[in-house]
Amino acid sequence: MRDFSHDWWRHAVIYQVYIRSFADGNGDGEGDIVGLRSRLGYLHELGVDALWINPWYPSPMLDGGYDVADYRAINPRFGDLDQAQALIDEAHALGLRVILDMVPNHTSWDHRWFRAALAGDQQARARYLMRPGTGDHGDQPPNDWRSVFGGSAWTRLTEPDGSPGPFYLHLFDASQPDLDWTNPEVHEEFISVLRYWFDRGVDGFRIDVAHGMAKDAALPNLGYQPGMLEAPEVEDHPFWDRDDVHQIYRDWRRVADSYDPPRMFVAEAWVDTAERMANYVRPDELHTTFNFDFVRAHWNAPSLRGAIDRSLGALSAVDAPTTWVLSNHDVERQATRLGRADTSGGSGADAPVKPGSVDAELGLQRARAAALLMLALPGSAYLYQGEELGLPEVLDLPEEALQDPTWERSGHTIRGRDGCRVPLPWTVAGRSAGFGADGSWLPQPAGWGKLSVEAQEDDPSSTLNLYRAALRLRRNLDGVGTAELTWLDAGADVLAFRSGDLICALNLTDAPVPLPEHSEVLLTSGDLGPDGSLPVDTAVWLAVGC
Ligand code: NOJ
Repeated sequence: MRDFSHDWWRHAVIYQVYIRSFADGNGDGEGDIVGLRSRLGYLHELGVDALWINPWYPSPMLDGGYDVADYRAINPRFGDLDQAQALIDEAHALGLRVILDMVPNHTSWDHRWFRAALAGDQQARARYLMRPGTGDHGDQPPNDWRSVFGGSAWTRLTEPDGSPGPFYLHLFDASQPDLDWTNPEVHEEFISVLRYWFDRGVDGFRIDVAHGMAKDAALPNLGYQPGMLEAPEVEDHPFWDRDDVHQIYRDWRRVADSYDPPRMFVAEAWVDTAERMANYVRPDELHTTFNFDFVRAHWNAPSLRGAIDRSLGALSAVDAPTTWVLSNHDVERQATRLGRADTSGGSGADAPVKPGSVDAELGLQRARAAALLMLALPGSAYLYQGEELGLPEVLDLPEEALQDPTWERSGHTIRGRDGCRVPLPWTVAGRSAGFGADGSWLPQPAGWGKLSVEAQEDDPSSTLNLYRAALRLRRNLDGVGTAELTWLDAGADVLAFRSGDLICALNLTDAPVPLPEHSEVLLTSGDLGPDGSLPVDTAVWLAVGC
C-alpha cells in the first residue's frame, strides 16, 4: 500500500476555522485562539485531519483579516504568539495538522511597508504598484481596472505635505494595496514569513488570491467593468492567472520541501478551466489547489459529474490530488444555496447571495447528500465550520451589522459575505448559544441554538452525526479518499461510483431508484424508501458486494 504519511494532504479532510466566529474564549464577542483551543477535542472527535485557520494576524480587520498589518504576529483580538504556539502543539498532540492563511497579493495599509510608502519612502513605494494619475489634470486612475469589491481598483495617495500623490493599485479594498511581485524584496520577505511559521511547526499554508500576484507590467485597460475574481472571457488577462505567477510557487515549493516533514500548500486560485488549475500543482509547484467546481456546479447529474471528471482528469495528468469544497467564508452556505431554484454558487464577493426564495428543508436534504458525495471522492476535502451542523446562510442580518467591504463599496447594493460568517452555536441556550459572549460581532438569528452542537449531539439522524459517521467510515474503509474512482451504471441521473471498498450513489432523478448491487448499507443522507429504494436528492454509502 502507498505510504501517505508525508503526503497526507493527498486525502486529508481539512476543517476551515473562521476564527472570529468559531469560539469566543474571552467573552468579547469575537472568536479567539483560547476558544479554538477549548474546542480542539470537538474537531478531533469530528474526525478531521487538519485545520485551516483564516488570517489571525494583526489587522485593522477591514476585510476580515485579509488586510494583514504584520505577518509575524497575532492579532491581539485573537490572542498572542504563545497561545498560537500552544494551539499548534495541542493540535499536533491530537494528530491534527495546522494550516495557516498566507496573504501575499496585498498587505494592509497599516503594514509598516505601506506606512513608509505613505510617508514618502521611495524604496517602500517600489514594493507596491504605484503609478501617476492620467488625464489632463493627472487626477484620473492609471487604467480602468475595478476592485473585486466594487469601484475603481486605484486610490490616490496624499503626500506628507498634503499634495496629491500617485495612485496605488488595490484589486480588493482600498485598505489592501497590491504588492509589486517584480520587486525581489517582496519575494524575500514572503519566503522569510513562510519560514517563520514553518519553524513554529505549522504544516502548511492556504495561499490567498494565488492567481493574482503577477500583473501585466504595461497595466493595460481591461475593457470591461465588473469587479470579478474570475474573467473567463478575457484572454491574456492583465492580472488573473498569468504565467509569471508560477515561478513564485516553484520557489515556495523548495522552501516547503526543505523541512522535515515537508510542509504543504493549497492555492486559492479562481481560474477558468481544470487545465489552468492543474498548472498550479505541477510536480515542482504547489501541492494542492482548491477546486471550486462543486461551488459553481448546478445540482444535477451532468453538472456534478462533469465537475468530478474534469478535475480528476486534469489533476491526475500532473499527479496531483483533487480537492473538494462545497463552501467557505466567501460563498453562500450550501444548505441555503441548494434550496434555491438556481443552485450554482460563485465567490461571494462578486457573486452575491442570489435573490429568490429558499426551500430550507430541500436545501438541507441536498447539502447532506452533497457531503456524502464529496467525502466519498478521491482526494482531499475541505469542510467550512458549521457545515457539519447544516447551518444555513443568515439572510436577514441587519444592515448596520454588515461588515463585508462589498456592502460599502457597492453603494449598499451587494450585502456581501457576512451571512456565512455568523458565530457558531455550541449550546441550545446560554450566552450567544455557547459561542461565549453576551452578544457576538455578527448577531446570531433567533433559534440559532436549536442548530447547536449540543442540540445535535445525541440525535442519531442529525447532520453532525452524519458527518461524524462519514468521517469515521472514510478513515476505516480501505481506499476511501485514495483509490481511483470507477463510475457505475445506475441509470440516467444517478451518480454512482466505486472508490476503494466504498460505493456511493446519489439520486438526482425525480423518483426513487433501486440501490446499486452491494453487500451492506453503511450510511444514508436521509431515510431509504420502505422498499429499500434511494429517494430523490439522497445519497447512500454502500459496502462493495462480494
Ligand atoms: C479571498 C479571501 O477568501 C477573501 O475573504 C478575501 O476578501 C480576498 N481573498 C482578498 O484577500
